[in-house]
Amino acid sequence: MKVLLINGSPHKAGCTYTALCELAAQFQKNGVETEIFQVDPKAQSCIACGACKGKGRCAFEGDGVNECIKKIEDSDGVIIGSPVYYANISGGLASTLDRVFYAKKSFAGKPCAAVVSCRRGGAGSAFDRINKYFSISCMPIVSSSYWNSVHGNTPEEVVQDKEGMQVLRTLANNMTWMIRCIEEGKKAGIEFPEMEAKITTNFIR
Ligand SMILES: Cc1cc2nc3c(=O)[nH]c(=O)nc-3n(C[C@H](O)[C@H](O)[C@H](O)COP(=O)(O)O)c2cc1C
Repeated sequence: MKVLLINGSPHKAGCTYTALCELAAQFQKNGVETEIFQVDPKAQSCIACGACKGKGRCAFEGDGVNECIKKIEDSDGVIIGSPVYYANISGGLASTLDRVFYAKKSFAGKPCAAVVSCRRGGAGSAFDRINKYFSISCMPIVSSSYWNSVHGNTPEEVVQDKEGMQVLRTLANNMTWMIRCIEEGKKAGIEFPEMEAKITTNFIR
């Protein structure tokens, strides 16, 4: 059982990373392996070239996007973390996730969650932004006892956010539970529902 923790901050060991470490420690207590994947803060934005169509990978190599797709595919669950930048996610993460989800389209059935780190405000809209990738991809979003955010300007401040830390531990426990339920379900012959061929409309036809 493995959960991928994605660090969308340019700071490899900053506040977002501190939140991911709290998750990793709780997953470890639950017997779940974790890996932290560092997003390239200079990741190229999606240029809508469409070269990914049907391929499941982006045409641009070398900035971690295709590696990220593979790592999500190989994991049993994924948690995406971002610092809050002007009430949104970091630019590097936005570029990465646009290309990951546009190329791959779907990680259907994979449990997922968003975590955001901010000094003071804008956590809600950044959290929503990450959840939008999941909820267009048939991915079950795991929740906690609050919207997953931590507050602080430094890692030392983040660990003082006791409620934020607890929300993360609860999230790790809830995701462990969901992954185990899915595993047991598979053993009992319960598979993720087959998807219909996609119907795409643009509201006028
Ligand atoms: C460009 C930029 C924009 C930011 N915008 C916000 C914001 O809207 N709200 C907020 O509370 N903090 C904001 N911050 C502060 C970071 O979100 C906060 O320090 C975060 O915890 C840093 O996480 P990190 O150490 O993982 O990079 C911003 C920081 C930067 C660099």
